[in-house]
Amino acid sequence: MKVLVTGGAGFIGTNFIRYWLKAHPDDEIINFDKLTYAGNAESLKDLAGNPKYKFIVGDIVNEDIIGSLVEQCELVVHFAAESHVDRSIINAEEFVRTNVLGTQIILQAVREHDRRLHHVSTDEVFGALPLGSKEKFNELTPYNPSSPYAASKAGSDHLVRAFYHTYKIDATISNCSNNFGPYQFPEKFIPLVITNILEGKKVPVYGDGLYVRDWLYVDDHCHAIDLIINQGKSGETYCIGGMTNDISNLEVVKKILKILGQGEDVIEMITDRPGHDRRYAIDWSKAQQELGYQPENDFDNYLEQTVKWYQNNQDWWQRVKSGEYQRYYEQQYGKVGN
Ligand code: NAD
Ligand code: DAU
Repeated sequence: MKVLVTGGAGFIGTNFIRYWLKAHPDDEIINFDKLTYAGNAESLKDLAGNPKYKFIVGDIVNEDIIGSLVEQCELVVHFAAESHVDRSIINAEEFVRTNVLGTQIILQAVREHDRRLHHVSTDEVFGALPLGSKEKFNELTPYNPSSPYAASKAGSDHLVRAFYHTYKIDATISNCSNNFGPYQFPEKFIPLVITNILEGKKVPVYGDGLYVRDWLYVDDHCHAIDLIINQGKSGETYCIGGMTNDISNLEVVKKILKILGQGEDVIEMITDRPGHDRRYAIDWSKAQQELGYQPENDFDNYLEQTVKWYQNNQDWWQRVKSGEYQRYYEQQYGKVGN
């Protein structure tokens, strides 16, 4: 099978491409990515020359290119998005353009060429849960997004559902919780905390630090997407989460400090994010019952593996933090568009 992956130079896309080529060695992948600040061609440099893998730089909002790529592939796995909540609070324009308009352009092409689509979305579309409650998000939870990022992802989900109902396209959606693992851009909380500690810097914690996320290891997420693509039912949504049991951001930082043998004096409580969602938790029993989804390990185990990865791959994240990574593609392949 030929698979079109959008946003494959980002964190989850990079891990997904590696996962898919290993799990489906006969398949071919086209990675289509705009290489925004979040895209890092270096993360997949070991795949250069692999006959099963092709990387194309471009924007999903370009109808002509998307039309031709979708036509060439049997399956589209759509990750491309602006993904960082704090950036959407500063300026939402690119979020609406890429996440809403870009998804509509993918949907048009999927409809026209009658292809299979899996759309990767987020639990942030559901809004926030109260701290201390046992409540969890599931596939029937009403949408109530709080940030411009979450609203743009909600818009993209609604479009996917509308295309399924109106045009009977073959599509599934997953709404997952916070991913962590290798190759994550260090603006996101866990890699930011680890790399700041390794650099001897302070660790910024928003507000009272008692915000709760449902941490999902990126490989478990990739496996869940594989299960949905191969066993999921068209038109259905699947919620995917990890095994964290309501751990606060402060507790996450303290665990990382302990793994690295550092004291808690580096923690710096700073001004809160506006409109900060208090708690996320996912009920992934539908995916478990219908697809056999189950995270392989618990949070502590994955956190240790992740800390080790950043310790062993300092060159990768130092080049991201210094901005060097943005020159990699041009140095290897020349200017984009040539
Ligand atoms: P990321 O920001 O690391 O990567 C996004 C990628 O998309 C980048 O490589 C970027 O260059 C590319 N991109 C952005 N705009 C584009 C455009 N117009 N055309 C083509 N490519 C473009 O994001 P991520 O963390 O890997 O997230 C991937 C997907 O998963 C997103 O749709 C996100 O909403 C969703 N998601 C992420 C998480 C998480 O915790 N990271 C959780 C739930 C859902
Ligand atoms: O829930 C899924 C979502 O998880 C994805 O859809 C988003 O793409 C992804 O960015 C992530 O959103 P969050 O806003 O939850 O992730 P972030 O890593 O930005 O923050 C995680 C928590 O840590 C959140 O409560 C805010 C807090 N935080 C974050 C940063 C960057 C801090 O306390 N300090 C920080 O410096």
